[in-house]
Amino acid sequence: MLIFHTIAEIREFVRQARVKGYSIGLVPTMGYLHEGHLTLMRQAKKQCDTVIISIFVNPTQFGPGEDLASYPRDLDRDAAMAEGVGVDAIFNPAAEEIYPSGYSTYIDVEQRITEKLCGASRPGHFRGVATVVAKLFNIVKPDYAYFGQKDAQQVLVIKRMIADLNMEVGVVTVPTVREHDGLAMSSRNVYLDPEQRQAALSLSSSLNRAAAEVRAGERDAAKIRQLVIDLIKAEPLARIDYVEIYSYPDLEPVEFIKGQALLALAVKFGRARLIDNIIL
Ligand code: PAJ
Repeated sequence: MLIFHTIAEIREFVRQARVKGYSIGLVPTMGYLHEGHLTLMRQAKKQCDTVIISIFVNPTQFGPGEDLASYPRDLDRDAAMAEGVGVDAIFNPAAEEIYPSGYSTYIDVEQRITEKLCGASRPGHFRGVATVVAKLFNIVKPDYAYFGQKDAQQVLVIKRMIADLNMEVGVVTVPTVREHDGLAMSSRNVYLDPEQRQAALSLSSSLNRAAAEVRAGERDAAKIRQLVIDLIKAEPLARIDYVEIYSYPDLEPVEFIKGQALLALAVKFGRARLIDNIIL
């Protein structure tokens, strides 16, 4: 497995793979890999001849006061894990390589998709995500790119961008990978102390309760939302950022659940802001 830090190097690697007629899969990440990331990579290995992952803690998707500086980083550990699942190359650029001085171009996916959920509590977040993902697509030119359903809104933003800008990339979405007790895997779980870790189980368990209510016939979105809020508020360590239900994949407000709906939440435990979701 090779590790490249410059755009010129990864482009040359891609060019050589293309000469051999190889298909290319890209898994964009911010590193500090866990089993969720590795599942995306294994999926890419199944479908593509060459698998490239990017490890880049993208400054433009962090707001002021967020955890950009303290975001966990460990390239050696990540490289060993990626190699273990057969990744062919890691692209790990410095911030100046991606955003050189004078950088001025950003991609804004319209507000209908980006103003709600994480877009409401993290203004500019999806502008940073769309911009860096578009740049990674332009640099690597993958046939397929792999994203996790854990970031359901991110997947919708990227799919919209690809459609609107006529990008030739297939998006493969992978279901959320969880710890044995249900906690969605996240690089930010390292911020949790044991008590917070225990309290954070309320996220997946409340989503599962909501799904069970819907299976049992409940259709009132406000009632389901309130149930989830009450279950999470029962944990004194939890500070709710949002709990929302929208139609899926259109993200329109819903009163009564008819087709598919996205129940999504963001909750803080200490300095960890965790997200999770389920399709009802
Ligand atoms: P990051 O949080 O590192 O996640 C990288 C990819 O792994 C994303 O597609 C995310 O949805 C997926 N992922 C994370 N946890 C997962 C889990 N428990 N199960 C399944 N997939 C999971 O998302 C980002 O980085 C960035 O926004 C990025 C797309 C790289 C742009 O900077």
